[in-house]
Amino acid sequence: MKRKIVAMPGDGIGKTVLPEAIRVLDAIKFEAEYIYADIGWEFWCKEGNALPQRTIDLLQEHKIGLFGAITSKPKDAAARELDPSLKDKGYVYFSPIVGMRQHFNLDICIRPCRSFKGNPLNFIRRSNSGFEEPYINAVIFRQNTEGLYAGVEWTNPPKVVRDALETHPKMKAFKHVPSEDLAISTRIVSREACRRIIREAFEYAKKFGYTNVTVCEKPNVLRETSGMMYNEAKIIAKDYPGIELWDTNIDAQMMWLTKNPEIYGVLVAENMFGDIISDGFAGLVGGLGFACSANIGKEVAVFEPTHGSAPKYQELNPSIVNPIAMILSACMMLDHLGENEKADRIRNAIAKVIEEGKVRTYDMLKLKGGPDVFKYGACTTQQMTDEIINHL
Ligand code: NAI
Ligand code: MG
Repeated sequence: MKRKIVAMPGDGIGKTVLPEAIRVLDAIKFEAEYIYADIGWEFWCKEGNALPQRTIDLLQEHKIGLFGAITSKPKDAAARELDPSLKDKGYVYFSPIVGMRQHFNLDICIRPCRSFKGNPLNFIRRSNSGFEEPYINAVIFRQNTEGLYAGVEWTNPPKVVRDALETHPKMKAFKHVPSEDLAISTRIVSREACRRIIREAFEYAKKFGYTNVTVCEKPNVLRETSGMMYNEAKIIAKDYPGIELWDTNIDAQMMWLTKNPEIYGVLVAENMFGDIISDGFAGLVGGLGFACSANIGKEVAVFEPTHGSAPKYQELNPSIVNPIAMILSACMMLDHLGENEKADRIRNAIAKVIEEGKVRTYDMLKLKGGPDVFKYGACTTQQMTDEIINHL
């Protein structure tokens, strides 16, 4: 029986890279039917909803989504681009990705960051005898629904909120600030969600033989929220003898990235800190053209590259962008579906193409993106996919 996959190209280069991933999935003979679903800016402008109910229904029905990227804009710009017939009718723009994660409680975000041998974008570091290129193999587990991105925030908080906050002694420092001059974003963490993300991180470490799990938070300052993450980690770690629990502060971790990134295995963090460290690690292994991710809930899972819609490149024909992040995200989908052998074959093909170095997208050649990159030896998006398919 063919699996049904909800394919959501989205906007900009999402529309370019998603079909490339499907070409590779077809080439490896992954038996699937792709059901195309609407998401993104186009649907905000036309319908006042970037994540239409029909898309939510399809995900609910088929459980697995493969997603390209969307375009998002600030509140005012969003309101200006709304179809005139919908203007001033109370439509408010919300990010459909955040919406999807929250609607389906896709609370486990996994972002592997592994160096590919021969990638000219790999991080190198000065050593006593010259330069060295550490092999990085880190997997970030980001709590995907709560924390600083939970969306509980105000400018000019209502009186009940302000009154409640005033019960905290530290609010004395803001006593004289008028409410209209106060902006508040909360960091809300629940024990259940902490436990789930930490447990998943340890399970992954155990399954794939990682010897350390690092909680990357800031419990010395964020004593309550980071404190809860760290305390739960200490309890859960007891179930995993042989896997060390490490802890780092998010700021220090960003510094450690350039000093000793190779020592880290699995890392786990709240939403925003996970967002930060996963971009940090991705930068060491090639950046956005290589950064893949999975958003996994109890029922539904959605796989996507971490890059956005790169609007400045969306009109280029032929396309210049790197499809590898999207293809690696499709591999994560295969892993999730138990098709690990197919996923490994694709990853091995990507590794070979990178190591041979004959076919490289503009980012791998460190070129400034634009229509002339082919003159300097860059391949097109489609040529990169073809080369990967040839190496399967
Ligand atoms: P972006 O990720 O779209 O692009 C930033 C830059 O990274 C690009 O200009 C390009 O130089 C490079 N890049 C991105 N993907 C690449 C690829 N596959 N190959 C080669 N180079 C690549 O981020 P930006 O410019 O900050 O945002 C553009 C739009 O995307 C915004 O509307 C933003 O809200 C949205 N966005 C959507 C995300 C998603 O759908 N998951 C994530 C991040 C941004
Ligand atoms: Mg990010």
